[in-house]
Amino acid sequence: MSLITVEGGRRLCGEIAVQSAKNSVLPILAATILSGDVCVIRACPRLRDVETATEILHYLGCDVHWEADDLVVDTATVDRCDIPENLMRQMRSSVIFLGAILARCGRADMSYPGGCELGPRPIDLHLAALRTLGAEIEECGGCLYCQGTHLRGREIVLSIPSVGATENAILAACGAEGTTTITNAAREPEICDLQDFLRKMGARVNGAGSSTVTVEGGARMHGCEHRCIADRIAASTYLAAAAATGGEICLREVNYRHVSTVTTALAQAGCRLRSEERMICLSSSGALRGISPVRTSPYPGFPTDAQAILMAALLRSHGTTVFVENIFENRYRHVPEFLRMGADVRLEGRVAVLCGVEKLCGTGVRATDLRGGAALVIAGLQADGITRIGDIYHIHRGYTRLVENLAQLGANIRYE
Ligand code: EPZ
Repeated sequence: MSLITVEGGRRLCGEIAVQSAKNSVLPILAATILSGDVCVIRACPRLRDVETATEILHYLGCDVHWEADDLVVDTATVDRCDIPENLMRQMRSSVIFLGAILARCGRADMSYPGGCELGPRPIDLHLAALRTLGAEIEECGGCLYCQGTHLRGREIVLSIPSVGATENAILAACGAEGTTTITNAAREPEICDLQDFLRKMGARVNGAGSSTVTVEGGARMHGCEHRCIADRIAASTYLAAAAATGGEICLREVNYRHVSTVTTALAQAGCRLRSEERMICLSSSGALRGISPVRTSPYPGFPTDAQAILMAALLRSHGTTVFVENIFENRYRHVPEFLRMGADVRLEGRVAVLCGVEKLCGTGVRATDLRGGAALVIAGLQADGITRIGDIYHIHRGYTRLVENLAQLGANIRYE
């Protein structure tokens, strides 16, 4: 199972349920450390990044096991407060555990997460937030040594509405004495999901979804059960695939508000969309048109994670579309792979200019990162002939059943 093979030309039709959000599950697994009790994550997606998070929890002394599709985490027996380098290197976003470990144990040691495929992944805002709460953090030899036995609630001002820094600040603030206010907080739906989970655990967190989040620290925490929100980027992936191939699909469990910037772009490209409370449907002729410039920005703006996915859908569109990637420095690595298929996309720094082409040709390509890999699948679905996608471990970090779901919708796709 080292390749995904796609034969293009099939329309997608049918209905699927969308997995729970990877970017909710990961901070929520870190948050379980605060409970010292048993937490159950219902319908938890079996992803590589979730496996890495469970390895970290095991390493910290927690009991973690699956019961059917539910992940059961008992954090009563946490007896370590460090994350070893091999685990940090498996998942850059392991830094999400920093605030929770510090709040629970009074100290936290981990190697610096370093950069990844998308470019440098600095954590200066994470560290500044924890220092504001009173943590003493030494950075030495690529490692972080954090001490914070008496964290105090303070006002934290984030210069960038960083998702991870907001999450770390919230989790650390749960262990601080007094009230913490986080200003310029990230507003992503996954932050709201984290707040919902923390409230179920007994924490006093308010304001998630707005730019100001407040945490009353020191609450007694306990276990709980939770089902995370649907993965809005996985949902966007299926919608973009159907937009590109033509057809009609419906996605269950999706909050249409969480994908509104993506559906607006797809509607502008010529798709028809219908949404109900927990369902969203798209129909497309497959003949799309270029759209107005797509500028990625923090939620509720157009998500950077959907940039490659929308670009893939528009590769055969009639006309031109300009993309501006404002979040990550190196998030066009999928473009050279598109060019191998005959696409016409020109890069100039953060700007990509896509001119639609008549046809794409199936060939061998390699996934460069999680969403770039999913974008290559979308390109293959609309290409003439067969596309073979390598390095698919990137895709398994964030998608469960991508191949199975697309096959169920009628795609000619399989593992090889
Ligand atoms: C989260 O990453 C997501 N990951 C990413 O999804 C997503 O692309 C990103 O948010 C933006 O929405 C998870 O939630 C696990 P940021 P995160 O901190 O928290 C800069 C995927 O495909 N920055 O909001 O790391 C940073 O360099 C992944 O599912 C600092 O400068 O993103 C970036 O330019 C990819 N200093 C910008 O802020 C810091 O201390 C936004 O990053 C932190 C971030």
